[in-house]
Amino acid sequence: MRVLSGIQPSGILHIGNYFGAIKQMVKYQESEELFAFIANYHALTSLKDAKALKENTLQTAITYLSMGIDPDKSIFWVQSDVKEVLELYWILSSYTPMGLLERAHSYKDKVAKGIHPYHGLFSYPVLMAADILLYDTDIVPVGKDQIQHVEMTRDIAIKFNNDHGEIFKLPKFQVDDSVAVVPGIDGAKMSKSYGNTIEIFLDEKALTKRVKKIVTDSTPLEEPKDYEKCNVFALAKLFLDKEGVEELKERYKKGGEGYGHFKMYLRDIMKEYFAPYREKREYYLNHIKEVEEILNEGAKKAKKVASKKMETVREAVGIYSSDKGYKNA
Ligand code: ADP
Ligand code: TRP
Repeated sequence: MRVLSGIQPSGILHIGNYFGAIKQMVKYQESEELFAFIANYHALTSLKDAKALKENTLQTAITYLSMGIDPDKSIFWVQSDVKEVLELYWILSSYTPMGLLERAHSYKDKVAKGIHPYHGLFSYPVLMAADILLYDTDIVPVGKDQIQHVEMTRDIAIKFNNDHGEIFKLPKFQVDDSVAVVPGIDGAKMSKSYGNTIEIFLDEKALTKRVKKIVTDSTPLEEPKDYEKCNVFALAKLFLDKEGVEELKERYKKGGEGYGHFKMYLRDIMKEYFAPYREKREYYLNHIKEVEEILNEGAKKAKKVASKKMETVREAVGIYSSDKGYKNA
């Protein structure tokens, strides 16, 4: 199966991003054909600072490589390195009813949050459809908020196929329900927009400070504590195996330890868990050329698939190319 996923280069990633997205992707590359790209054209709809967008694109690539995306087991590239996607975006625009885009929740939510309603934001789902259809994708793993975009992709593909035959594969979305929502330091969903994140690559001092801010109740130190209601426990269990979780439950039930102890324990297991990734990240930060080569190789592989697909699409809709002349006339 071909699995494809796009990652917005939002720069600094947090634990929610890791457990909710990166970890799944790294798993997919072991058993499926993984196409993973950094959606920098999409990010342009919300990020208008050129320097930041470029920097975030590279930093996001470094993070994903450090966390386990393996260029030998997947195709990993930056969206803008394969320009065919923009051509397909335009062609698909002519097969996308306005009504379909007008129903998009994500557009409405973003505008409600104060993002300026540029046409790019409105037509965002068409570019996403181009990402997916260009590479004959079978499965798109997404968070719940992106399901509608994959459904729109199917609608666009069906419309196109009705006119031109079975050109596009119809993709399916996949939402991994086993990935619980990772809570932030205030107990709500961890999200950049809520300011409640714990970033993956904080240094020890900043991490300690952040962990200390996790909201807990006021059960006194000596009393037993309810792990089920504790944000520290909810985060700690992500990093522990079964045995570790049981041991921690016992410590909560026994009493005699305060939340401060559990917070420092959480800090330590987080530090240990991410240590190998941190090392890899250091390596890539010092070998930017190597990162660029990986992305370049990835783009070449992706381009090969994309340009072949575009030949079929152009032919189907009748786009003339002076290289080829009236091929089938
Ligand atoms: P944010 O909410 O911080 O802006 P994004 O929307 O950029 O995060 O999410 C990128 C990916 O990380 C998505 O696949 C999303 O489902 C996943 N993700 C983000 N926050 C969480 C969370 N708290 N728990 C689980 N997955 C998350
Ligand atoms: N819209 C997705 C997000 O915000 C990112 C994305 C762009 C994407 N193109 C994609 C995801 C194609 C899956 C497939 O998370």
